[in-house]
Amino acid sequence: MLSIAKNIYRLSFQSLKILMYYLNDAKKYYFSAIFPRKKYRRIEGIIIKLTHSMEKRLSFENRDPSFGKEKAFKLISLLESGLKDSNSKVSSTIACWSISTLNEFSKTFMEKNEQIEFLKRLTSISKLLINHINPTEIQGGIFELTRDEILTSSKDNYEYFSKNRHSIRNFAGPARIEIIKQSISLAQKCPSTCNIQPVRVYLTEDEKTLNSILSIQRGNKGFTEKIPQLLVFTADLSLYSGFRERNQCYVDGGIFSLSAAYALHFNGVGSCFLNWASSRKEDVRLREILNIPENEVVIVLLAIGNLSEKISIPLSKRRPMDEIFKVV
Ligand SMILES: Cc1cc2nc3c(=O)[nH]c(=O)nc-3n(C[C@H](O)[C@H](O)[C@H](O)COP(=O)(O)O)c2cc1C
Repeated sequence: MLSIAKNIYRLSFQSLKILMYYLNDAKKYYFSAIFPRKKYRRIEGIIIKLTHSMEKRLSFENRDPSFGKEKAFKLISLLESGLKDSNSKVSSTIACWSISTLNEFSKTFMEKNEQIEFLKRLTSISKLLINHINPTEIQGGIFELTRDEILTSSKDNYEYFSKNRHSIRNFAGPARIEIIKQSISLAQKCPSTCNIQPVRVYLTEDEKTLNSILSIQRGNKGFTEKIPQLLVFTADLSLYSGFRERNQCYVDGGIFSLSAAYALHFNGVGSCFLNWASSRKEDVRLREILNIPENEVVIVLLAIGNLSEKISIPLSKRRPMDEIFKVV
């Protein structure tokens, strides 16, 4: 009798705690991402996302001139307001990257008259960053790499290896399943919470399945038809316990999927993460397509395939060290 009462107490305590912690998570997310107290951080986030969208577009073979102009005008307005407002603390590195990418974008996608006006606006905001612009350094846009350059770097020392892993969005057909499996087996060596090894990996290369999944994933526009294979990483929630471990699946899933991306790079296979920031309906649909059980949570997708001879790669500028590292 006493043990039943104890179990009921334990379960009610856990249920209440889980509810409270999720409510607290919701509050934290609401006041950081949806209705932020530090508004300029949000503006910087939008600037980064729009800039990345521009550089991705520049890297695609199909250069449809109608694409992205609206985003380019939105981005320049955000930069103007963000940089002119003395309270705003938009990172100078991010702003330089953004301006250089817009510069490349306008040269590629805009007609002469439109471009002249646009470049005037860019020059005007560039003046605000005069101390940060380094003319000898490429600040934004795209760069080219050959397959041989990537393959050589993938067998070199860690610094060269990791600096030459880039998201690949233009593949030359499917990679061999044995190589993919060998890469996943290397990724299995990565650490996980108490070694519970919660990650499960689904591979699909069937055209119909690929198209069904990619049609509900938001982030493959412009290179959908270039993707020959897809990995879907999930984590088995039933291996966790208690309210404290409620988010561990994303940590374990993140570590595993990056290890897989690096192992694929080591084996000469290109990859690009595809977010699974989905609605409930999209999540249910993906589960139906791949037959993913209810106890597994989808972490992220990875488009994979063989490297093509020559690859255009978005610069994807990184923040300077002093913005991200603090000795406290
Ligand atoms: C969790 C996650 C989700 C991502 N989702 C997408 C996506 O949906 N579409 C896309 O083109 N790239 C996606 N990426 C790739 C990022 O844009 C890319 O990693 C970033 O710009 C840095 O560039 P790099 O990987 O070439 O170094 C994603 C990356 C991560 C880690």
